[in-house]
Amino acid sequence: MTLILGLESSCDETAAALVTSEREILAHALAGQEEAHRPFGGVVPEIAARAHVEVMTPLVAAALGEAGVTLGEVDAIAATAGPGLIGGVMVGLMTGKALAMAADKPLVAVNHLEGHALSPRLTAPALEFPYLLLLVSGGHCQLLLVEGVGDYRRRATTIDDAAGECFDKTAKALGLGFPGGPAVEAAARAGDPEAVPLPRPLVGSGEPHFSFSGLKAAVLRAHESGDYAVADIAASCQQAIVDCLVDRTRIALEKVNDINALVVAGGVASNAAIRTALEALGDNHSLPFIAPPPWLCTDNAAMIAWAGAERFAAGLTDDLATPARARWPLDAEADKVRGAGVKA
Ligand code: KG4
Ligand code: ZN
Repeated sequence: MTLILGLESSCDETAAALVTSEREILAHALAGQEEAHRPFGGVVPEIAARAHVEVMTPLVAAALGEAGVTLGEVDAIAATAGPGLIGGVMVGLMTGKALAMAADKPLVAVNHLEGHALSPRLTAPALEFPYLLLLVSGGHCQLLLVEGVGDYRRRATTIDDAAGECFDKTAKALGLGFPGGPAVEAAARAGDPEAVPLPRPLVGSGEPHFSFSGLKAAVLRAHESGDYAVADIAASCQQAIVDCLVDRTRIALEKVNDINALVVAGGVASNAAIRTALEALGDNHSLPFIAPPPWLCTDNAAMIAWAGAERFAAGLTDDLATPARARWPLDAEADKVRGAGVKA
């Protein structure tokens, strides 16, 4: 059995966790920054980086204390090395490198997206490769064929915004506050999902990708018209996002063979309406549907420690010169898609 210390700081959560290769979560400490970013309605990179600096070291001490272990008993240190807000990524990665050097432990540089991609295996021991993963977070919306540790084939991505971005901008426009996803989900409970006619970009098309910017713009127009209640807009927007995610995932499922499960991960995967709809889609394809518990969907360090455990078991460690990366695709071979900044 190995014991891994995981560190996460790529966006607005600072986190440290201790996880074993036997899937025991001995500690997971997390400090959110919602209060600091709320006045701006979104994450301010410089504020985030400074907050990570302040709390990372105490969080590591708290996690070690909660687990009742010393740094000397840890087998490897896993830190998010990207992608994300570069100032924050550097804080966690540098802390990881310093601890690895001081305690003479191996470093595992973890891709944050790989943390999300492998997180379902932490709480679902029976989940075997390969599986089809819908990875939905604040900055990413992808369908990936997960073949093994470090082995990902991107089947689809967004040509403009991520689903999380659509939730966050909708919440901002409707005055529901920050972070947006949970606020839209809460408001939607009191609304009618069919009250506002909204587009479902790319639904029904043979192309595999996602698109959410047209939906985002339509939500803003519906709100500005003054014709609809906030709860109805929230419910209708959430339903449109669900329909887009389900339709695109269905297209991808029709093109893969011999997978063991339909899996969802990333912050947006904590949404109950999305989980319910994907579970039904899995049923239709006679596939088990696996989603991590909601706390493991949003950013945390347990998933980084677990990805570190999986990589460490596969003999994948990194040297202390490993750079922090703002951009770091999981599938480096994936074709570029038409979209912002990319010429078709
Ligand atoms: O994975 P994550 O915590 O951070 C990134 O790596 O981006 O995902 C954050 C995203 C945000 O867009 C947030 O609004 C969304 O996940 N989110 C949700 C819910 N909880 C978080 N979206 C919809 N429903 C939720 N309950
Ligand atoms: Zn994330």
